[in-house]
Amino acid sequence: MPEATFHFPPGFKWGVATASHQVEGNNTNNQWWEWEQQEGRIKQGHTSGRACDWWENAEADFDRAAAMGLNALRLSIEWSRVEPEPGRFDNAVLERYREMLRGLQQRGLEPMVTLHHFSNPLWLEQQGAWINEGTISYFVRYVERIVKLLGDQVTLWCTINEPNVYAVMSYLYGLFPPGQRDFKATRVVLQNMLKAHGAAYRAIHRLQPAAKVGLAHNLRFFDPANPRSLLDRLVASVLDRGFNRATFDAVWKGWWSLPMGFGPAWSLRHTLDWVGLNYYTRDLVAFDRGAKETLFSRLTHAPDAELLDGGYGELYPEGLRRAIKRLWRMRLPIYITENGIPDSDDDQRPAALLLHLHQLWKILQNNIPVQGYYHWTLVDNFEWAEGWTLPFGLIEMDPATGIRIPRPSADLYTAIVRGNAITPALLDAYAPRLRPRILPD
Ligand code: BGC
Repeated sequence: MPEATFHFPPGFKWGVATASHQVEGNNTNNQWWEWEQQEGRIKQGHTSGRACDWWENAEADFDRAAAMGLNALRLSIEWSRVEPEPGRFDNAVLERYREMLRGLQQRGLEPMVTLHHFSNPLWLEQQGAWINEGTISYFVRYVERIVKLLGDQVTLWCTINEPNVYAVMSYLYGLFPPGQRDFKATRVVLQNMLKAHGAAYRAIHRLQPAAKVGLAHNLRFFDPANPRSLLDRLVASVLDRGFNRATFDAVWKGWWSLPMGFGPAWSLRHTLDWVGLNYYTRDLVAFDRGAKETLFSRLTHAPDAELLDGGYGELYPEGLRRAIKRLWRMRLPIYITENGIPDSDDDQRPAALLLHLHQLWKILQNNIPVQGYYHWTLVDNFEWAEGWTLPFGLIEMDPATGIRIPRPSADLYTAIVRGNAITPALLDAYAPRLRPRILPD
């Protein structure tokens, strides 16, 4: 039997990622809370409620993360708590975040702090939020306050999580608040968020020269359903441009490209110290003459694809390697800021975790500087419009009671992290069917 152990570099960052609204509970002052109270918005009428109770007791889950041997954790700050009314900052809230960050440091978990992860203060939403260019200066003011107060505990900052997903889900598909379906608005929102990223990048560096500032991008591949069809290739490339390329053209090349039109965005150029990759799945794209609303595209899956629960898409681990290779064109340090699958019975997650980490290992052999991997996520959390129906946790949680039960994947991740490697014994124990796929002949 061939044997091989896949070692990760010494000091590799192993973490988990979360977002404030999904875990804190009782975030009553943002647009999501309001949205959740409206009928028909969230699957099965779910609400975030107490979520994972992090506002009261994040430390219990920090203990779990530390017990797994992790050395990193990504969380986000809830703007609506910090600045409940325009210009009024809540010191008690900031003190609670200080306490959480201290708690992470004490447990050997290096924090990565996201400053915006989908949720807006209600007062901002009521003014149109990211539709307005004025939001950029509000964001910078909030960011400055955070960096001044928490900067002694954090050097790794992620300005905005997935501007592309926020813009598309909120303004094109209408599935996130404010539920609009307007292509022009989508473009404006994406553009304002990228401008805000650039402005925040500079503001953070002014206050904290040693800061490492990046952005988390959800890179989703749109591959032509039939690679020999010119039209499939064309629509796939249009989607890729809008969803993926436009963001990096802006924040790296300093150039607005489609769907933002064309033109210089010099102030955004090189506003990344690192780039964050949120990788989940890919789509195949077919040309569809009748689908005007979706730019003549129809999304499908590969016929032989293993599908994920809840219609989440294909299990496509090779995409992680492809995505990293693509980001490496910018020659920046890379963090995998999110990666995971929804899987309540954990029948796919162990293999999925091994396959994705094996792809990551492969890329590391090419000396591409991936600095860390943050699994999405530690404990089942509130999955936005999908409510509690898509459980991404290594640890299962019943939202009614808060009772947590580790899934087998939690043990697997612990073993990988503690050994800093994928071993044949782990393959045999958790996903023996992968042996021929992963171990060389
Ligand atoms: C988001 C997370 C979300 C995850 C799983 C990402 O796009 O950043 O907030 O929970 O996907 O769907």
